[in-house]
Amino acid sequence: MAVLVLGIETSCDETSAAVVEDGRLVRSNVVASQIAAHAPFGGVVPEIASRHHIQAIRWVVECALQEAGVETADLHAVAATCGPGLAGALLVGVNFGRGLALGLDLPLVPVNHLEGHLHSVWLMKERNQPGPVLPMLALIVSGGHTELVVMHAHGLYERVGHTLDDAAGEAFDKVARLLGLPYPGGPAIQAVAAHAIEPMRLPRARLPGTFDFSFSGLKTAVLHLAARLATEAGPEGLRGTALPQVDIAGGLSSEQIANIAAGFQESVVEVLCQKTADAASALGVASVAVVGGVAANTALQEQMRRTIQQPLYVSPAEFATDNAAMIAAAAYYVPPVEEEIDILPGLALGMA
Ligand code: KG4
Ligand code: ZN
Repeated sequence: MAVLVLGIETSCDETSAAVVEDGRLVRSNVVASQIAAHAPFGGVVPEIASRHHIQAIRWVVECALQEAGVETADLHAVAATCGPGLAGALLVGVNFGRGLALGLDLPLVPVNHLEGHLHSVWLMKERNQPGPVLPMLALIVSGGHTELVVMHAHGLYERVGHTLDDAAGEAFDKVARLLGLPYPGGPAIQAVAAHAIEPMRLPRARLPGTFDFSFSGLKTAVLHLAARLATEAGPEGLRGTALPQVDIAGGLSSEQIANIAAGFQESVVEVLCQKTADAASALGVASVAVVGGVAANTALQEQMRRTIQQPLYVSPAEFATDNAAMIAAAAYYVPPVEEEIDILPGLALGMA
């Protein structure tokens, strides 16, 4: 008999619910995005996120059940992201899931958000698609995390590298803001980079001998380059102004913005691909996955396809950014808990 799990994801700025069959087949995946609510602030405002989750959660879950053609009586478990994420946002999803599970007499399965991202490469819309072979090296690249993880089995993970400062998605968001591009920065940078005539050459943080990453130096290099170009080209009054007072984005032409964005993207993509390829060869894995919001970046996808020797699985865009289908997929392998679930804003991926 097929196992149907209702997944709930509210760790950041997407309210999502999904029904997934046997940890793989996506019967529905409904995502209510809050981007418009946070965009005026240039980033996610935790209080606003919690309020929007409260408003959306009930109809998002109802839509997911309806789209899947599933009655609550058909469900075998309810799963909710328990961390890492924004505490107030997580609480909405976990408490809604808890109430639902209690009322329906179903188990409630707490899912680590990163474990969810890892399972996004198992999701399929049609039956009988082949899944990745283990051990798999996964590059998790999201707004909050940049990690290289070897997945030995469902539930058995080994972290082999991580960012020492900013996550890749965070760097995309911050650089976009600096260049006057809208939130979220990743898609905005990708879009303007496509118009670059001559991408600017920016540094790469290679951190030799490790599988770790660092993006804060690159971010600073972008800041200095953009400030220099803005003051050179800007009105007389801007020249010689101290850095923080310069309206950097306003002083740049759209061509300069495109060239900087493309140079930044090239630097991030090159380092992510090189490190992933080196780790995959050194660790002798059977497959490689790229998951998390930044996996939606087409330049990253193309470069990964050119660089990686092993079978490569990249989350499709709809399952790369936050969604509940990946949570329901991961839950298929996680034992339900009897005790209270802790909300864990800073929870690291559980390493066995
Ligand atoms: O996985 P995700 O939806 O949320 C977290 O768990 O953080 O990732 C969101 C991040 C944001 O930083 C966003 O700018 C980035 O993913 N992102 C992209 C693209 N689409 C989303 N970054 C680069 N290129 C994209 N096309
Ligand atoms: Zn995420």
